[in-house]
Amino acid sequence: MSAPRKLFVKTYGCQMNVYDSERMAEALAGEGYVATDRPDDADLVLLNTCHIREKAGEKLYSDLGRLRPFKAANPGMKIAVAGCVAQAEGAEIIARAPQVDLVVGPQAYHRLPQMAARAQAGERVVDTDFPPEDKFDALPRPTLRRAPAAFLTVQEGCDKFCAFCVVPYTRGSELSRPADRILAEARALVDQGVAELTLLGQNVNAWHGAAGGLAALISALSEIAGLQRIRYTTSHPNDMDAALIAAHGDNPKLMPYLHLPVQSGSDRILRAMNRKHTVADYLALVSRMRAVRPDILLSSDFIVGFPGETAADFDATMALIDTVGYGMAYSFKYSPRPGTPAAHRPTLATAVVDQRLAQMQALITRQQRAAQDAMVGRVVRVLVEKPGRKPGQMGGKSDYLHAVHFQGTPAMTGSVVPVRITESSTNSLAGVIVG
Ligand code: SAH
Ligand code: SF4
Ligand code: F3S
Repeated sequence: MSAPRKLFVKTYGCQMNVYDSERMAEALAGEGYVATDRPDDADLVLLNTCHIREKAGEKLYSDLGRLRPFKAANPGMKIAVAGCVAQAEGAEIIARAPQVDLVVGPQAYHRLPQMAARAQAGERVVDTDFPPEDKFDALPRPTLRRAPAAFLTVQEGCDKFCAFCVVPYTRGSELSRPADRILAEARALVDQGVAELTLLGQNVNAWHGAAGGLAALISALSEIAGLQRIRYTTSHPNDMDAALIAAHGDNPKLMPYLHLPVQSGSDRILRAMNRKHTVADYLALVSRMRAVRPDILLSSDFIVGFPGETAADFDATMALIDTVGYGMAYSFKYSPRPGTPAAHRPTLATAVVDQRLAQMQALITRQQRAAQDAMVGRVVRVLVEKPGRKPGQMGGKSDYLHAVHFQGTPAMTGSVVPVRITESSTNSLAGVIVG
């Protein structure tokens, strides 16, 4: 028998790419590929890319440069580019990077095994189609060994067309996976020891694979006995329907954490961004969420320096952050993306954007720290996921998605344990298991 082929995977970007990378590795496992963590002796290097900001795309080309000597030393090595840069720039990648053998878009990766075989035979292959068939149907059932918390993509694509964003172009229009397939995949994951599922979608709460929307899907999933926790991300404020809001109050398996990006606290900028909601709409939604689940932790994404953002617009965003009080949040400098409506609008001076970003990040860090500090003295439920950094330590996530460390044993992995929080440090909490 020939030696197994080695596969090195690097994933950039969002959780949907993390999920896709796992599925691609599974599809290739069927062809005899086994994972390696060393790119230099891999037979196939798979870069699963992100196109969201300019820097994300640049990383691909610098990594491709770094791979060149490995490929020179190991001529049998094939290099594949997948993900959103592959979708957006497939032909350009092939032209610009002669070391790339294969380019596959996010909707075509079920064809990867055949493409890899063609690449092995010496061809350069590109597939950035949006094929009519359901790629998930063509992929093998999840087979990899799982951590207790897993992702499950239920929805793909976006029809929202925010003026800054490439996702509607790289991932295509909104598509919901059918409920029965999602339930089957969820049961298979739970059978492999998964206790927590995070349902993924570029607009996950726009899922409409069955009547009742995402709330109905969550309700059906919560019937799976071994499944202890359910989360979902990323949700769009305009798709938070009454049933989904109510589920946060009614369904004990649905965790009290919600990523609800708002991008800006200025109505003028929200309009320019084509967000289709106002600050008041968003604040009303936050109030409704807190009415059903007072302890819910909220997180958000913010873009700083969107074209036309004045000091007053920025102050309005800071005021919104102050009003909401986030458990955590991400803030990004606006990056003009080719092909998006905002791409050619005049941008702000870098120094202004840098100063605003620093100011915002300082506020967010203070809020994040305050939310963590508020946990000290409380007993939180932690899903034990893996050994901590120190000997005898285990780590996992609380219901509120805080990383928590405590003294424990690997035998606890996969169980949910009560932990009294004793300490809050920069990005994690420490505590002790209570009887
Ligand atoms: N579907 C999700 C997330 C999309 S991308 C949503 O609607 O919220 C994740 C985040 O990247 C966005 O929320 C936004 O804050 C940021 N982002 C997207 N395009 C960007 C751009 N051109 N420049 C800077 N940040 C951007
Ligand atoms: Fe991008 Fe807006 Fe769609 Fe989110 S909702 S993926 S930010 S276009
Ligand atoms: Fe990036 Fe594509 Fe996700 S652009 S953020 S990998 S959907």
